[in-house]
Amino acid sequence: MKPYGVPADTVARFEKSVHGIALAEGSRGAPACADCHGAHGAVPPGVRDLVQVCGQCHEHTAEQYRKSPHAGKKDMRCRACHEEDAAKDPLGFAGQDCTACHGTHDIVVADRDMLVGDAVGHCGHCHRNDEAPKAAAQTILDGTRRLEDAMRRTKQDLEAAKAKGLFLEHEDLLLRESERALVFVEPLSHSLDIPAISKHLEDGLKRQDRTIETLGKEGKKLRDRKILLSGLAALLLLLAALAALKLQALRRLS
Ligand code: HEC
Ligand code: HEC
Ligand code: HEC
Ligand code: HEC
Ligand code: HEC
Repeated sequence: MKPYGVPADTVARFEKSVHGIALAEGSRGAPACADCHGAHGAVPPGVRDLVQVCGQCHEHTAEQYRKSPHAGKKDMRCRACHEEDAAKDPLGFAGQDCTACHGTHDIVVADRDMLVGDAVGHCGHCHRNDEAPKAAAQTILDGTRRLEDAMRRTKQDLEAAKAKGLFLEHEDLLLRESERALVFVEPLSHSLDIPAISKHLEDGLKRQDRTIETLGKEGKKLRDRKILLSGLAALLLLLAALAALKLQALRRLS
């Protein structure tokens, strides 16, 4: 196939990708060749709407991506900048929308590193000196890290509180909700709608603050209860002592 410009290692590369691995592991949602190419293998996804191809499964992400300044832009293709240099297109594809950042048959687990540096597919690859995109990437990066840190701290505090005997079903729920905030921010960040992303992350942080506050209050209640209980215990001891004295006095009288 090589002479016709089709890379011979397509299948090998696919097998090592997240999709290929998921497929081999029998994951029911994983794409096989036909999911992206059509049943007859004759449809190159390049001529179809790629957002729609990937969006068959990554629905939220595609929906958010459609709102971004990247969606459908001709300049999102590798060849927009590497026109004459085929060697700079080592992935063997022109790149378009989703694949411009994630690759095609080589897709790996996406992580926050893509927001940093200028490797192929990372923000800085196409935005070498553009201020707005760099600021956008930094905002997403800082925001998610702050939420992650806050969640880690809240989780520790929750566990410590439980060890002390506090029962906090509702707070567990709040924590799980902010975990969801972190999961949903990944599809949402494809919109590059920075105010919406920031607000979403801030809401997640506020939930942490509320949980910490509730923890503090419940902890204080527990302490107050302990003080009250030890006060009561002291009072009982005193009463018992008085009763014993009284009993002694009565015995002496009789
Ligand atoms: C997740 C979607 C997806 C899956 C699964 C997939 N492909 Fe592709 N394939 C693409 C995209 C996207 C392109 C590039 C189109 C473009 O932008 O020019 C492509 C391009 C190709 C090409 C043209 C040459 C090249 O590599 O760019 C061949 C051949 C090909 N795929 C074969 C396969 C085979 C065989 C499988 C199964 C082992 C497979 N594809 C699985 C999305 C997929
Ligand atoms: C038929 C369904 C399907 C199609 C079509 C599909 N994917 Fe996937 N994708 C999956 C599944 C399943 C996983 C593995 C999920 C897992 O194991 O966490 C996955 C994983 C991924 C991941 C890694 C997710 C992570 O957690 O970091 C990326 C990135 C990705 N796909 C991008 C794409 C792109 C880009 C396209 C289009 C070229 C595409 N997918 C087409 C089903 C699909
Ligand atoms: C907005 C312009 C732009 C786009 C789009 C673009 N590149 Fe680049 N690319 C550059 C610049 C600038 C350099 C660094 C100077 C050079 O080596 O030409 C570079 C360097 C490279 C290099 C060599 C150094 C490295 O970072 O590994 C490769 C490989 C490469 N690009 C591949 C790609 C692929 C694949 C795509 C599509 C997914 C792509 N480029 C899209 C601008 C772009
Ligand atoms: C401009 C680059 C870029 C484009 C274009 C892009 N992504 Fe992403 N994608 C990322 C980055 C960066 C992350 C990792 C975000 C993180 O970890 O915070 C990511 C994460 C993901 C993930 C894993 C997390 C999640 O959202 O479930 C999937 C799946 C994914 N992208 C699919 C897609 C699909 C489908 C498209 C096209 C509709 C697309 N991406 C277009 C940069 C991009
Ligand atoms: C493959 C190249 C490529 C990659 C990778 C890429 N971008 Fe872009 N970006 C573009 C193009 C092309 C435009 C649209 C320019 C236009 O409006 O015509 C753009 C526009 C933007 C804009 C709007 C710019 C403005 O001044 O309004 C932002 C913000 C942005 N990108 C952020 C990012 C972030 C964040 C990442 C990484 C997650 C990223 N980009 C990765 C090519 C890329």
